[in-house]
Amino acid sequence: MLQTFDQRNENIFVFIKDKLVPRSEAKVSVFDSSVQGGDAVWEGLRIYNGRIFCFEKHIDRLHESAKTLAFADIPETGFIRDAVIKTLEANGMRDGAHIRLTLTRGEKITSGMDPRLNTNGSCLIVLAEWKSPVYDNSAGITLVTSHIRRNSPQFLDSKIHHNNLLNNILAKISANISGADDALMLDDRGFVSETNATNIFMIKNNHLLTPNAEACLPGITRGLVIEISKQIGVDCSERNISLSEFYNADFVFTSGTMGELTPVRSIDGREINSQMGRNIFDKINSSFKKKTETEGEPLPF
Ligand SMILES: Cc1ncc(COP(=O)(O)O)c(C=O)c1O
Repeated sequence: MLQTFDQRNENIFVFIKDKLVPRSEAKVSVFDSSVQGGDAVWEGLRIYNGRIFCFEKHIDRLHESAKTLAFADIPETGFIRDAVIKTLEANGMRDGAHIRLTLTRGEKITSGMDPRLNTNGSCLIVLAEWKSPVYDNSAGITLVTSHIRRNSPQFLDSKIHHNNLLNNILAKISANISGADDALMLDDRGFVSETNATNIFMIKNNHLLTPNAEACLPGITRGLVIEISKQIGVDCSERNISLSEFYNADFVFTSGTMGELTPVRSIDGREINSQMGRNIFDKINSSFKKKTETEGEPLPF
């Protein structure tokens, strides 16, 4: 589960602010807001079969995150689209690639947290890499519950897809120490919210359940799973779900752009009886795969 260096990414081109540069020169200033305060927003996208999957949805979420953080100049959709296409074309990427799209508040005139120090405009970064789904989706993954809680809107709304990832990173560290693949995170009331990097679903008695999007990112893949469940006639509810319910689920899986749909083998050492809900998972997964192969914005090169 620990990602390794892919030689194909050694000489990639990266788009920063207004131009493409080789990986070795792909840097931001020490005055950039992302360095100063993690003051940036981001999206992870995938390229399948000559198409950018769910491109509009990712751009919309990037725009919404930047608006919530009151960025002064947010690049238009057209600018972002051109930058992404230019980057993919320069790297010859039409399939099997992942994009980390970041928008920072830009460079400050001096160090400090005040956004009024940002007089140079925002900075768009398009980092496209060759990257397969990051989890073992055949064997599945193990989770351990972290003592770090996922942010509710009371603290920092998890609907903002921002670069201040310490909440998730601390949870990931606790998973690493426990020897689990990822951490399961609870909300401030003790209900399951998501993992440190993905949304989470459970199947029980042929029903699909996922936590309310109160203290989790309302993931784009999560949205697709809910949509698919309706299309294939599987009842799906969003509600508060306790750990005990997850321990006793028939099947548990995570969802996210980075890893697609990933079965969960165990949570806190409790094995999930993966055979009982497997049929429903397989149906959802094959519809999801079909979407990735056939939908998305076609690349013009
Ligand atoms: C904390 C967290 N949850 C869930 C997701 C999955 O979201 P999506 O399906 O939009 O990739 C992500 C992706 O970045 C994430 O960072």
